[in-house]
Amino acid sequence: MDGSSANCPGWIADRIINSGGSVSFHQYMDWALNDVNNGAYSCGHLRLGTKGDFVTSPSLGGDFAELLAVQLVDWFNQLNLKNDTHLPLTLVEVGAGDGDLAFDLIEKIGQLSPSILNRLELVLVEINRGMIERQKQRLSAITSIPIRWSSFEELNKNPVVGVIIAHEMLDALPVERIIYKDKKLHRQGVKIDTDNLNSWLSYTELPLSQLLESFLLEIGDGIGLKLPPVDAPEGWSSELHTELMPWLRKASESLIFGSLLIIDYALEAFRYYTARRDKGTIISYRNQFASSKLLSEPGYWDITSHLCIDTLVFYAQKNNWSYMGNVRQGQALLALGLSERFHALKELSTSNLEMALSRRETLLRLVDPASLGDFRWLAFQINNRFKPNCKRLDLTAKFLSDSPG
Ligand SMILES: C[S@@+](CC[C@H](N)C(=O)[O-])C[C@H]1O[C@@H](n2cnc3c(N)ncnc32)[C@H](O)[C@@H]1O
Repeated sequence: MDGSSANCPGWIADRIINSGGSVSFHQYMDWALNDVNNGAYSCGHLRLGTKGDFVTSPSLGGDFAELLAVQLVDWFNQLNLKNDTHLPLTLVEVGAGDGDLAFDLIEKIGQLSPSILNRLELVLVEINRGMIERQKQRLSAITSIPIRWSSFEELNKNPVVGVIIAHEMLDALPVERIIYKDKKLHRQGVKIDTDNLNSWLSYTELPLSQLLESFLLEIGDGIGLKLPPVDAPEGWSSELHTELMPWLRKASESLIFGSLLIIDYALEAFRYYTARRDKGTIISYRNQFASSKLLSEPGYWDITSHLCIDTLVFYAQKNNWSYMGNVRQGQALLALGLSERFHALKELSTSNLEMALSRRETLLRLVDPASLGDFRWLAFQINNRFKPNCKRLDLTAKFLSDSPG
């Protein structure tokens, strides 16, 4: 075994053997995260927060939700004025993890605008049983608004008016990995090797599938992305987000009209697919430790990759979404009132210094470009009424338009 191979648990060995001895990396990642009985999210093995496997902005406390709620209330006010349906306003959170963000958002929206809260329902879209259980527990205390869990498929049958949020969710969608060897692109696969005593996982190269060939052609034509990049070294590899197209379609068909906010690690294509970034962005996390050994202990590690902004916007537009723009999290939070929160801490520091310092540290972490501040906030809007001749919705986004202050 070398550094790119790892002991193989029985459940995944069986799956790979039953699939003929090797599977695509995409399939491996899907099993490792979402397998009903063994996946890291499905079983609820992964823990979020400073004492868990990895930190996300909402897991650091309520400040993040309080600032994001400013944007949501503003969007719901705009939507309310246009809402001539009999439907309530709906906040849809996809991949809500432990449910912290949803919990804090409901509280903060209620404080900012009781009248919006009165018209609001919360819908959670989550594919993993283990996470649904945690979300139900976390949200059980909320009685102020109706809450339900739904699949995108159900929402597509009964679309809503509102806002969809995907916070650090799209980075968990299984990706295809491509690898450049012998002057050709291959699809990265995962195979099982055995000797008399052990079996272990290692990488292998598979031919590009038809889906991957079409995807490469489509992004080549659509955003001018030619892969591999010029001067890519032997062994160059990266990720392709083939799940974005179906996800954005299902999201778009879930709304009669409204907006979509994606907050995630993301890079422009010209930064993502360079010869120097020769292993892509994919990484795994456990116990606050980052590792490039993606085949280790499947079912116990988070595996995550950055999004490509150009690919995301391209597939969003193909699915009727109108792109409003993107900024880094630091800039978005400043536009939503982060500096006022810093000033307010000065007053708190005279009465409770310890709390003021810890809140200050959290706020800095949320905007620090070397930490969570480098996340991108990407906004889209859609008007599916009277398809195909939809009128523009003309929503504005505070976090994109307001100057920091
Ligand atoms: C990295 S966690 C993010 C949790 C939370 N949004 C946060 O930022 O704290 C990813 C979440 O997305 C969920 N998830 C992954 N794939 C999904 C999918 N296709 N649809 C809905 N949820 C998904 C996972 O089960 C998990 O709850």
